[in-house]
Amino acid sequence: MEFYEAVEKRRTVRDFTEKRVPDEILNRILEAGLKAPSHDHARDWHFVVLRRPERIAEILRHVAGGAEVQTDIINHWNTATECQKSMYYDALPKQVKMLSQSRCLVLPLFRAGADLMTPRDISSLNSFASVWCLIQNILLAATAEHLACSLRIPIRDEESYVLQCVHAPEGYRMPCYLAVGYAAPDAKIIRQTELSVAERIHAESW
Ligand SMILES: Cc1cc2nc3c(=O)[nH]c(=O)nc-3n(C[C@H](O)[C@H](O)[C@H](O)COP(=O)(O)O)c2cc1C
Repeated sequence: MEFYEAVEKRRTVRDFTEKRVPDEILNRILEAGLKAPSHDHARDWHFVVLRRPERIAEILRHVAGGAEVQTDIINHWNTATECQKSMYYDALPKQVKMLSQSRCLVLPLFRAGADLMTPRDISSLNSFASVWCLIQNILLAATAEHLACSLRIPIRDEESYVLQCVHAPEGYRMPCYLAVGYAAPDAKIIRQTELSVAERIHAESW
């Protein structure tokens, strides 16, 4: 698939089939991730790949399910657009399902800088910024392989639980859970807010 086509086609998918993602395709996608730019030229990144449904369920034990949908709160966000609201209505009840349904859950791990959580300046966040470059490469590579992805950011005690569960070495962090799989034929794709480049470019000065 041509690069701009992959950029255009990459969308968050939260409904998957159970069709197995072949190892060789998954490896290619993760390899694309490992080619991403990194702040220290170290690329200190690893992946824990989970395939077994019972292991995935164990890892997702602390992820809240559909009962946590707080639609009334979303409705009261007066800053949220209809586009954003429809995303949250779709996404919130699907968090566990979207990460387990494809039976291919990838946990990207990165070695965090010592001052990540107490940043002195923007560069303290470099290890975190770099791992998001890796994640974007994976999302685009998956699209080019006709696969789909969804991701979730761990909140509260989810991350520490997962890191302990997978025996991550000291100093490693998990920026997100990443599900890779084949989109269900009726997968819901939320409309993206359309942006105009012309309105966002500020020649010489804003
Ligand atoms: C930093 C970041 C955090 C996100 N967190 C979540 C999340 O916790 N759960 C979820 O379902 N989607 C999450 N998403 C996916 C976004 O909801 C999605 O990218 C956005 O709605 C735009 O849709 P698109 O990816 O189809 O363009 C996240 C995306 C990013 C980049």
